[in-house]
Amino acid sequence: MTNKILLTVFLLSTTITLRAGEGMWLPQLLKALNEGEMQTMGMKLTAEQIYSVNQGSLKDAIVHFGGFCTSEVISDQGLLLTNHHCGYGQIQSHTTLEKNYLKNGFWAKNFREELANPGLFARFIVRIDDVTQAMLAGVTDKMTNKERQSQIDKNMATLKENTKLGEFEELMIRPFYHGNQYFSFTTVTYNDVRLVGAPPESIGKFGADTDNWEWPRHTGDFSLFRIYAGLNNEPAEYSENNKPYSPKHFLPISLDGVEEGDFTLVFGFPGRTNQYLPGVAVEQLIETVNPARIAIRDAALKIIDAEMRKDEKTKIQYASKFARVANYWKKWIGENQGLIATNALGKKAELEKGFTNKLNSSLNLKDRYGDILPAFKKQYEMLEPYVLSTNYYNEIMGRNIEAMRIITYLRRLSDAYDKNGKEGYDKYKTRIAGPMESFYKNYNSNIDKQVFARLTEMYGNADGAKEISASMQNYLMANGIRDYDQLADQVFAMSMVLDKNKVLQTINQSPEAAIKSIKSDPLFKMATEISSTYLEKIAGPYREINGKIADLQRRYMAGLMEVFPNKRFWPDANSTMRVTYGKVQGYHPRDGITYDPLTTLDGVIEKYEPGDYEFDVPKKLLELNASRDYGNYATADGKMPVCFLGSNHTTGGNSGSPAIDANGNLVGLNFDRVWEGTMSDINYDPSICRNIMVDARYILFIIDKYAGAGHLVKEMKLVHPRGNTAGKQKNKQLNQSLNTPQSQLKNKRKKAMMKNGTPSENQKALPLNGGGQ
Ligand code: ARG
Ligand code: ASP
Repeated sequence: MTNKILLTVFLLSTTITLRAGEGMWLPQLLKALNEGEMQTMGMKLTAEQIYSVNQGSLKDAIVHFGGFCTSEVISDQGLLLTNHHCGYGQIQSHTTLEKNYLKNGFWAKNFREELANPGLFARFIVRIDDVTQAMLAGVTDKMTNKERQSQIDKNMATLKENTKLGEFEELMIRPFYHGNQYFSFTTVTYNDVRLVGAPPESIGKFGADTDNWEWPRHTGDFSLFRIYAGLNNEPAEYSENNKPYSPKHFLPISLDGVEEGDFTLVFGFPGRTNQYLPGVAVEQLIETVNPARIAIRDAALKIIDAEMRKDEKTKIQYASKFARVANYWKKWIGENQGLIATNALGKKAELEKGFTNKLNSSLNLKDRYGDILPAFKKQYEMLEPYVLSTNYYNEIMGRNIEAMRIITYLRRLSDAYDKNGKEGYDKYKTRIAGPMESFYKNYNSNIDKQVFARLTEMYGNADGAKEISASMQNYLMANGIRDYDQLADQVFAMSMVLDKNKVLQTINQSPEAAIKSIKSDPLFKMATEISSTYLEKIAGPYREINGKIADLQRRYMAGLMEVFPNKRFWPDANSTMRVTYGKVQGYHPRDGITYDPLTTLDGVIEKYEPGDYEFDVPKKLLELNASRDYGNYATADGKMPVCFLGSNHTTGGNSGSPAIDANGNLVGLNFDRVWEGTMSDINYDPSICRNIMVDARYILFIIDKYAGAGHLVKEMKLVHPRGNTAGKQKNKQLNQSLNTPQSQLKNKRKKAMMKNGTPSENQKALPLNGGGQ
């Protein structure tokens, strides 16, 4: 579809109201598409204040954190706020039994104590441009997929060559609307990002996996990092001489909190949604894909959980891995329930009926789009055994049997030798040294052996995935192995992979000797055989069918937009920068149950279970609560807010995104969604899809009152957009600030607005920390 058609579609569609909350919008298109609606919902900002190429705007405070989460700059010294679960890997990597930052938290007292994190990056978006024309030049409907792709690749190379970039800038080009439109993102990436602070897990991960994806929620899911830059504020590799980064914009933090109905905007990098799948695809997800991967993870998690509960060292080693595996396990369960509860299949059927009816009323439309739905059906039917096998293979061989990671390294090492001789071998060996070290730091072969036995058994019994299950059964038979426990015994008794020193000894020999030992390793041999069946029989057709499906999906997307010109379509998430907006809002998941949108510290105390690894509460927090010592951070009626709900449409990758109020101040930190609404990736439903945020005041309270890290709060800019200061007269500095003569305050306000670039005539922001808090 051409740009022109897309734009017409957009403009027509803005005239109708959208289901509140739905959509992940491109920041540079807000002016044309969303500004009016956002302002009607209460927003006091202009689209230009959210995204501008020419002056500092909100977008300059939004950072892609390591490529998997979002974070935001909250001080003029490059202080970054993100989730505890986003910084988890880093916090864990600095944790030992003696310095247990997971358990006790970590707070750097000064810049020197901030901890470096090799590999972690912070990426800014400088500008976003529509490059559809250049990317689709010479592309025609007659082309085969391959021809089309090769033309697009060529266009991309030309475009990159012809685009002038500033020093340190990079150009990233991504397809939107399943390949109907293209945008380029000019980025700048900082590679020296240090850990500044993290609460103990009993706050940052309070409720852990029991509460994960659930409401009511009481998790203080935040951590602090800092971007460091070279002497001229430019990106630089880690160096002691680097300086805290000075941002174009940072978010002021509101002390006034939120109320039901308030406008909220969530700004970040949502990973992936699939809102425009045909019904057959959703059915396959519900019936085949989700049940298989849920069952596999269920088996692995049961084993890990039992071992983690036995021993503190194992708990530290497996905490991060467990959380990662459990996260999507639970999400898929909720997703399936939600898809069924909201009758997603019925809705898809209705949409497809409407689509077909429209096609039937126009020969031209029918000619161009009439084949799509039947073709989808055929392709998804063909895909079924391949998608099931692929999920088994990925989940079992690629993910949940940990030792397979080392097998993969060894295989690549041997490939590197085949390709580039000793030089290639040595180069790859150096590359894997670090990852292997951290692998073994957290590896327990007793756990892995149990997981191996149960998961290979599932692989061997996979119904509907005959070829791969046969490969496992054949392996057992050919080697005279009775069952999967015996297989595990044999492999784990003899493989070098279980022992770091043996692996190191092996690969430090001459490449020839090393490869000989690798190839005779029993786990390596087994893995090679099982993989070869997958690669020979499944991987090819799986890719091919998916290619056809992707092409159908591109045409279906174009068809939907053309056939329903009054519907407003947003582009599926693809890890690019997006804005979503909604309201603070509770929900009604089932008959007789209604949820409030706000929680408080009272709920933490209600859930408190002394000694429990998910629901313990630190003593200091209990004390602060008992004495109601909430500092500046309580609500007007003296409560300590903890989390709140909104109708912002978010997904994985939005974790760590700021929740921004009507005036451009940070009021919360996005970290999750409610379980009943996790199907929002496939089928957003405004009645039950809610995102969960930590209240900014709880974050400040924990940093300041709990951790005694007030020096960090001093760096931030705290504001009172509502002038809600009643009931908070405890704090001296606050009083001082309020007692400042009006004129002085106004001046401070003006300065602060100019500095922050989010002025608004209506904004009543008082920079309270002006006098130093
Ligand atoms: N469900 C949230 C998200 O998808 C939070 C995950 C982290 N917490 C956990 N217990 N695994 O990322
Ligand atoms: N918790 C998710 C994340 O890490 C957010 C979500 O899926 O709602 O990005």
